[in-house]
Amino acid sequence: MRIDIVTIFPQFFDILDLSLLGKARAQGIIDLHVHDLRDAAHDRHRTVDDTPYGGGAGMVMKPEPWGETLDGILTDSPAADGPLIVFPSPAGDVFQQARAHEFAAEEHIVFGCGRYEGIDQRVFDWAASRARVALVSIGDYVLNGGEVAVMAMIEAFGRLIPGVVGNPASLVEESHSDGLLEYPSYTKPATWRGLDVPDVLLSGHHGNVEKWRHEQQLERTRQVRPDLYEAYTSGADAEGSAER
Ligand code: ADE
Repeated sequence: MRIDIVTIFPQFFDILDLSLLGKARAQGIIDLHVHDLRDAAHDRHRTVDDTPYGGGAGMVMKPEPWGETLDGILTDSPAADGPLIVFPSPAGDVFQQARAHEFAAEEHIVFGCGRYEGIDQRVFDWAASRARVALVSIGDYVLNGGEVAVMAMIEAFGRLIPGVVGNPASLVEESHSDGLLEYPSYTKPATWRGLDVPDVLLSGHHGNVEKWRHEQQLERTRQVRPDLYEAYTSGADAEGSAER
């Protein structure tokens, strides 16, 4: 999969050399390119922002450096039907696990990281005339720019790309994979600082372990995320009645 990132802080993405994603890059599973937006700003100060038309606080990112950078990326796209261009924004749809699976199935994704008060609207309008465009938020809070949001999204979908996580079974039993939060995990020693591992996990009885883990998932989800619990139990009811 090819990933392009446009940013004024390319160093943010140096850490994508590490860990599982770094390995996936070394193996050629992920082909990542980071572009410094300022390389397409041709004045002496490499200016990428200007004051907003109509007045107001803050600065707006100018369209020309975006146009030039995205032109190059679009021309280079390995995807027959072009890339998906994602602009992280607190005004976008909230990124969730389902979106992570969709992103993992893309052949080419471009991330455009805005800073300041945002990007000139014509960049989005023009990009949408050339490719699929999505505004995506990672949650209801405001970051200084899109870089950290892009890191979070890449972490979330990168691990779903086949071959990135060594043991694909580990993706099945984690939070959000089945609509519930994950069960608690324990390892040796069996007693630590007076705290014991639950007996059932030492019993060797696979069926009981499975049952206990599912109950833990339900209880955790009910307490911490009643919204997910409600969606899960109403879905389970609907399935049950469809079977009947
Ligand atoms: N940029 C600023 N805040 C953001 C958020 N919550 N999600 C994505 N991009 C952002």
